[in-house]
Amino acid sequence: MPAPEVTLSEPPRTSPASYRAIGVKPLNPTVGAEITGVDLAQPIPQNVAAELRRAFEEHMVIFLRGPAIDHEAHARLAKVFGKPHVAPSTVQWRVEGHPEVTKIHADGDSKYVAGEDWHSDMSCDPEPPMGSVLYLHTLPPLGGDTVFASMYAAYEALSDTMKATIADLRAVHSSAKSFGDKVARDLELPTSSHPMVRTHPVSGRKALFVNRGYTTHIEGLPAQESEAILRFLYEHVANPNFQCRFTWSSHAIAIWDNRCLQHMAIWDYFPQTRSGFRIQIQGDRPV
Ligand SMILES: [Fe+2]
Repeated sequence: MPAPEVTLSEPPRTSPASYRAIGVKPLNPTVGAEITGVDLAQPIPQNVAAELRRAFEEHMVIFLRGPAIDHEAHARLAKVFGKPHVAPSTVQWRVEGHPEVTKIHADGDSKYVAGEDWHSDMSCDPEPPMGSVLYLHTLPPLGGDTVFASMYAAYEALSDTMKATIADLRAVHSSAKSFGDKVARDLELPTSSHPMVRTHPVSGRKALFVNRGYTTHIEGLPAQESEAILRFLYEHVANPNFQCRFTWSSHAIAIWDNRCLQHMAIWDYFPQTRSGFRIQIQGDRPV
């Protein structure tokens, strides 16, 4: 089925030439940029950190390709964007001595991989992480891309009638939907209610905030209506017009904004290995 035609407003971006300390190469007009010129082996200078934050705000997800980094360098990079978020649902994948670092790993023994379906990380938490910094050191020979979709673009492409319908609705996000069959039975898993449309605290733009990975239902609607609206929105957010797709290389890093993006890890490389580490960054309660 062809993707529906949509007209998107241009995101407010500065010219790549306006960056002095880093190189910024947008992947497409909507979302994503590759960054060059950052030495992660050293402390990150203030002017580089400021431009990394600007590129993150303007492009929603930024990518760096570099040499291997250790947990300390990973944490230094994450700190440019905020404090670490330690999610209750990921306790069994935490790296010893580095509670903020989660191991992300898939190989020939895996029964599932993290983030196979469209989602915004830990939207089940009352204050979901605003961002995630994923570093992959081991890649399959082919495949294992990650796809990112702009929820600004998804929201803007809705009809005025649909925007009005969901404007004041809230949806429930449950960790059990994503992690219920993967973690210890006695682990307490968070459930949170969030507005279906959130306003980004930095850009002030509206973004759609329901996802197939965590959202269970819309509050105050009969189950069938809730399911029908959510099913439509889940199909809507997967429109390729809203996306960029990143092909990883060994030691590449992706830093994305969970407040205005959804992403999906493509598991097309079984039984090959894809492995790395993730640090999430504290966010605030969606409004
Ligand atoms: Fe994820």
